[in-house]
Amino acid sequence: MSSTAPPLSVVVLAAGKGTRMKSRLPKVLQPLAGQPLLAHALASVAALQPAQTVVVVGHGAEDVRAAFPAASVTWALQSPQNGTGHAAAVGLAPVERDGVTLLVTGDTPLIRSETLHALVSLVNEQTFALLTCVVEDVTGYGRIVRDAAGEVVKIVEHKDALAANDHAVLAIHEMNTGIMAAPTAWLRGALARLTPHNAQGELYLTDVIAMAAIDGLRVATAQPDSEMEIAGVNDKIQLAALERKVQLAEAEKLMTAGVTLADPARIDVRGTLDCGSDVFIDVGCVFEGAVKLGDNVRIGPNCVLRDVTVGTGSVVHPMSHLEGCTVGEGVLIGPFARLRPGAALGDEVHIGNFVEVKNSTLAKGAKANHLAYLGDATVGERVNYGAGSITANYDGANKHRTVIEADVHVGSNCVLVAPVTIGAGGTVGGGSTVTKNAPAGALTVARSKPVTIANWKRPQKKT
Ligand code: UD1
Ligand code: MG
Repeated sequence: MSSTAPPLSVVVLAAGKGTRMKSRLPKVLQPLAGQPLLAHALASVAALQPAQTVVVVGHGAEDVRAAFPAASVTWALQSPQNGTGHAAAVGLAPVERDGVTLLVTGDTPLIRSETLHALVSLVNEQTFALLTCVVEDVTGYGRIVRDAAGEVVKIVEHKDALAANDHAVLAIHEMNTGIMAAPTAWLRGALARLTPHNAQGELYLTDVIAMAAIDGLRVATAQPDSEMEIAGVNDKIQLAALERKVQLAEAEKLMTAGVTLADPARIDVRGTLDCGSDVFIDVGCVFEGAVKLGDNVRIGPNCVLRDVTVGTGSVVHPMSHLEGCTVGEGVLIGPFARLRPGAALGDEVHIGNFVEVKNSTLAKGAKANHLAYLGDATVGERVNYGAGSITANYDGANKHRTVIEADVHVGSNCVLVAPVTIGAGGTVGGGSTVTKNAPAGALTVARSKPVTIANWKRPQKKT
C-alpha cells in the first residue's frame, strides 16, 4: 500500500464452530498442506501489509490463539457466535484507524493476496467491493442479486431463498465468497443496523450489501482467477478434496521446475520443497517443514523427510525417515534408515538398513551399513561401523558423547559406553563392550575369552 492510500485494516472471521468437521479441533486449526487453515488465510493477508489485522475467534478461542504465538494480530473474542455480521462488528471494534476494511473468512485458505489486493483497490468513499464467483454447484452459498442494469442490489442466503421458495434466486449461479472490502466508517454504521430477521436468526454480514445499495454506495465486484481460491472448507470431505488440489498444484510446480515425479498424485508436501536439477522422487513420499534436495538427488518410495537438506547426487532408498538433519553429497541412505535430529552426514557416507543416527556427525566416507545405532557421536572419515553396534550414550540421567576417530573399524555387536574415544586407526573387536578410551592404531577387544570343553555331552530328554 502506498503511503497516500487510506490505512487498510483486515478482519478475519474465524469464530465459527465448524460443526460439520465433527472434531474437537476448531475448524480454522484443521491442517491443509501441513498448516492450519487460518495460517493460509493469514499469510495471504500479511502480503498486503495492512496497518492492522484483527482475527475474530470464538469457538476454541484459546487453542486458536495458542496456535499462533508469533502472529502480529489483534485477537477479538466473539461470544456467543451470533452470525457473520456480529463477528464483523466484533472485529471492527478494536480497529484503530478508519480507512478501508477488508473482511476475510478464516475457512477459505487458498485465497491469493493478488486477488485480495485487486478487491481492496476498488474501494473508495462511494464504493463497496465484493468478491463473487460463478460456480456450478451453488448449494449453501449466498446468491448475488443484480438489477436490470447489472448492479448488485443484495445477497440472499441459500436457506432464506429456500424458505421463501424463491426459484429465481435459487437459479442464480453467482455466489458470495464471503470476502469483501468497504470504507471502515460506513461499515461500522451499517453493521450496527443489522437485524436477525432471517432463516437462521443471526446477524448476516451479507445484509450490508443491500444497505450499501440503499445508502447510494456502488457495489463493485471482482472475481478470483480460479474457483479453488474461494473454496470454503466445511467438512472433512471438502478438506481432503482441497488437500488433493493443493498437492497436485505443488506437484505441477515441481514438475514445471524439472523435477521428475513417479506419480504426481502420490506426493505430499507439507511445507517447502526446494529441488535442484534432475531430482527424482518416487511414489508415496512426504516432505514436511523445509526440505532442500540438491542436483541429481533420488528419493525412493515411501520416504518421509522433515527439515532436511540433501546434497548433490545423494540417494535415499525406500522406507527411510529423515528428520532435522543434513546430508552431504554422494551419500547413500537406507532402505529402512532413520536419521533423527542433529544427524549431519558428510560426503559419501553410507547409512544402510535399520541404522539409526541421532545428534551425530559422520565425516566423509564413514559407513554404518547394517542394524546399528549412533547417538551423540562424532565419527571420523572412513570409519567402518559394524552391524549390531551401538553407542550407549545415556546413563539414565545424562547423555554422553562417543568419539570415533578417522579410519577406525568397529566390529559387529559392540557397545561403546560413552563418554569414550576410539583413537584414529584403531580396531574394536566384534562383541566388545568398550568402557575405556581405546588407543589409536591398536586392536581393542573387550569380551570374555572363548572356552572350549571337549567331548561335551548335551542333556538327554528323560524317558
Ligand atoms: C457465508 C455467507 C454466504 C457465503 C459463504 C461463503 C453469511 C450470512 N453467509 O455462509 O453468503 O456464500 O459464507 O463461504 O455471511 N463466523 C464467525 N462467527 C459467527 C459465524 C461465522 O466468526 O458467528 C465465521 C466462520 O468461522 C467462518 C465464516 O465466518 O470463517 C463464515 O461462516 P459460515 O458459518 O461458514 O458461513 P456460511 O454459512 O458458509
Ligand atoms: Mg462456510
